[in-house]
Amino acid sequence: MLRSLLLAAAGSDRLARLAGSAPVGAKAARAFVAGRDADEALRTARPLVDDGLTLTVEHLSAETRSVEQAVAIRDEYRSLLARLKDAGLTPAAEVSVKLSALGQRLDEGLAREHAQAICAAAAEAGTTVTLDAEDHTLTDSTLEILAELRKDHPGTGAVLQAYLRRTEGDCRELATAGSRVRLCKGAYAEPESVAFQSALDIDKSFVRCLNVLMSGEGYPMVATHDPRLIAIAEDRARWFDRTAEQYEFQLLHGVRTEEQARLAAGGNIVRVYLPYGADWYGYLMRRIAERPRNVAVIGRAAVGR
Ligand code: FDA
Repeated sequence: MLRSLLLAAAGSDRLARLAGSAPVGAKAARAFVAGRDADEALRTARPLVDDGLTLTVEHLSAETRSVEQAVAIRDEYRSLLARLKDAGLTPAAEVSVKLSALGQRLDEGLAREHAQAICAAAAEAGTTVTLDAEDHTLTDSTLEILAELRKDHPGTGAVLQAYLRRTEGDCRELATAGSRVRLCKGAYAEPESVAFQSALDIDKSFVRCLNVLMSGEGYPMVATHDPRLIAIAEDRARWFDRTAEQYEFQLLHGVRTEEQARLAAGGNIVRVYLPYGADWYGYLMRRIAERPRNVAVIGRAAVGR
C-alpha cells in the first residue's frame, strides 16, 4: 500500500517541480544522485573508479513528451560519453539509458535511431550501453530495439525484471554467447496479471532467472542489494564454474557501499549505477518506495551529515 502510494508520488510532475525548486531537495538527493550535471557526475565518478569500482552512468530526466526533448537527451548522452572518454573513465564507465527518455512512447523508430546514435558514441568512447527496463507496457518494444542494436553493437546490455512472470522465458532467450543481461527485481507498480506481488515470489523468480543466466552462455549482471540473493549468485557462479570475469555485481550509488567494497575486495567486478541530472525527484521516490528507511539516509544528506 505504502509502496504503491510512493510510486504514484514518484510519477507526479507537480511534486517533482516542488522538490526541484527547494534548495534542500538537491542537497538531499546527493545521498543517491551524483550531481545535477555531467561536471558533478564526473567529479563523483573519479574516486569510485580509483577505488576499483566500475560504473554505469545514467542521465535522469523528466518524462519525454516532445521530439525536441528526446533529441536533447540523445545529445546529452553523446556529450557525456565523449567526456567520460576524455577523462580516462572508459571503459570502466558505461552508460544506462531509458528508451522512453529517447522518445519510445512518441515514436518507436525515433527512439531506436537515438539509441543507435548513443551506441555508436559509446563504441567511439570504447565502452557500452545498457537499456534499462521500464514498465511492462514497454518490455516487448525494448527487447525488439535491443535485438536491432545488437546487430551492430553486440555488447549492448539488456535489463530483465524478476517480478515479471515472463522474465524466466526472456532469460532463456537472452542467455546466449556475449549477451550482457542485468537481472534486477523490478521497480515499478505492476498488476498481478503480469507480475509476482509478494517478496517471496519475486525472490524465487530471481533465483530461477539467476540459474538460467549463470548456467547459460551470456554475461550475467546481478543487480541487487539483497544479501541472500548476492550469496546465492556467488554460489551459482562457483557451481557453474564461472571465473570472476564472467559475471558482475551491480549496486546503486549510495546503497550498501560497504558491501560494494567487500565484493570488490573479493575480486568481483562491481558496477555502481551512478545517476545524475536535475530531474532526480522520481528516482529518489523510487528508492524510498523500495526501502522507507532510506528517508533517514536522505535526511542526513540534507543536513550535511
Ligand atoms: P530489496 O530492495 O528488496 O532489498 C533487499 C534487502 O537488501 C533488504 O532487505 C536489505 O537487507 C538490503 N538492502 C536494500 N537496500 C539497503 C540499504 N539502503 N541499506 C542496507 N541494506 C539494504 N529496476 C527496474 O525496474 N529497471 C531497471 O532498469 C533497473 N536498473 C537497476 C540497476 C541497478 C544497478 C540496480 C542495483 C537496480 C536497478 N533497478 C532497476 C532497481 C531494482 O529493480 C530494485 O528496485 C532495487 O534494486 C531494490 O531491490 P533489491 O534487489 O536491492 O532488493
